[in-house]
Amino acid sequence: MTATATALALAYLATGVLFILGLKLLSSPARARTGNLLAAIGMLIAVVATLFDRSIISWTDMLIGAAVGAVIGYGSARAVKMTAMPQMVALFNGAGGGAAALVAAGEFLRLSSANAAAGAATLLPIILSTIIGAISFAGSLIAFAKLQELMTGRPITYAGQQAVNALIALAVVALAVAMLVGNTAPALFVGLVIAAAVLGVSVVLPIGGADMPVVISLLNSFTGVAVAITGFVLSNDVLIISGTLVGASGTLLTMLMAKAMNRSVSNVLFGAFGSVKAAGAVTGAAPGGTVRSGSVEDIATLLAYGRSVIIVPGYGMAVAQAQHAVRELSDNLEKRGVEVKFAIHPVAGRMPGHMNVLLAEANVPYSQLHEMDEINPQFAHADVALVIGANDVTNPAARNVPSSPIYGMPILNVDEAQNVVVLKRSMNPGFAGIDNPLYENPKTTMLFGDAKATVTSLAAEVARV
Ligand code: TAP
Repeated sequence: MTATATALALAYLATGVLFILGLKLLSSPARARTGNLLAAIGMLIAVVATLFDRSIISWTDMLIGAAVGAVIGYGSARAVKMTAMPQMVALFNGAGGGAAALVAAGEFLRLSSANAAAGAATLLPIILSTIIGAISFAGSLIAFAKLQELMTGRPITYAGQQAVNALIALAVVALAVAMLVGNTAPALFVGLVIAAAVLGVSVVLPIGGADMPVVISLLNSFTGVAVAITGFVLSNDVLIISGTLVGASGTLLTMLMAKAMNRSVSNVLFGAFGSVKAAGAVTGAAPGGTVRSGSVEDIATLLAYGRSVIIVPGYGMAVAQAQHAVRELSDNLEKRGVEVKFAIHPVAGRMPGHMNVLLAEANVPYSQLHEMDEINPQFAHADVALVIGANDVTNPAARNVPSSPIYGMPILNVDEAQNVVVLKRSMNPGFAGIDNPLYENPKTTMLFGDAKATVTSLAAEVARV
């Protein structure tokens, strides 16, 4: 091994270690920033080392590419709203998958222009990386379009869809096998790329927009696998390590999200969830039940004179960007000696850790955040459960109505608190599209309005009473 090769191997090893440490630290909100920084340093080392790894054909092209990428990445990361983060992740993920497919295409062209008779062992990783990268690229673009509302977010289904998808998958396999047995005509390769991209589109089309975070996480793991295989194509250790980390963590996250919604990954992919509005009969709401709404003054008094309040944030808090007002309300309650805790459901909002990120942005101390299993037994001892823009994650039908689409999904047991206050704009349902019998519970008082406005008024009123 030459001195350069040794230095490169050590640099890639350092990168691998920094990535793993970064992931480890990201699992705790208190250390997540350090984790992110360590992973970024690892990435910098990997990029600089790679510049010495290969002979650079054009420094000008590289610098222009890096500058364009940096401007787009920096600009979009600064501009994106927190609620639009899932579609941004979809775009970035698609770019990763596309890059893996392009690198594989580059290697394919290099081999075919060198007229070298490439064996199946050389072609296999190139073909796999192309297929998985193209699926991930095309699927991520559809996920982005659905979340950005450039197209309908509802599942797009038609008769015989699964058979058509199976046929496209068969075409991909047939083209791959034809190439592996020696037909390496560029036209065949182009056909493979197109067939894989069509498969990516056709698999994501029947999935509802709200299931996209799970799909993006799954496509993310595909991108990781494509990158790891590209690592074998290029004999690059750091691509193998980082691709494997992304593949494994994406798979774990997909499974965790599906589990928290009490659905299987195959149900998310093939269930066309959200294509049919749930009928009233399965909502679990008592027919003709009454809904009580209260005033800011009444609710502020209830909160201010309580001993303990558990705040349950959900997607509506993110939409309203009410997290800073929520922090103010919590501070004002604590000043009065009220104990305030936050209950975090694993799939509250629209992306993993959505509530944690928003509350961290508003500097809510981590010690006040409690996960579902830990907080659920405490609702019975709370004076008020204050639900802010959360719906499905508090729906008791998930516990008691076997015919409900969300039956079996673990929920926050807010209805066990002495009083429940729900802040939302209307009686509209949440992501699952079903009514919530919690709103007709005699313990429940609704406060209608945009969460930022209502929480701000409550914070001011609590300070006043
Ligand atoms: P949802 O059940 O979607 O309910 C959100 C509620 O917020 C809505 O009922 C809406 O009612 C209210 N809202 C919207 N904008 C508001 C505003 N500006 N001010 C006040 N309220 C507002 O949310 P959740 O309880 O957080 O549950 C999350 C759902 O998403 C679950 O079903 C979960 O399975 C699904 N999901 C989550 C993830 C991840 S990873 N988090 C991924 C995929 C799917 P109004 O319109 O009446 O205001």
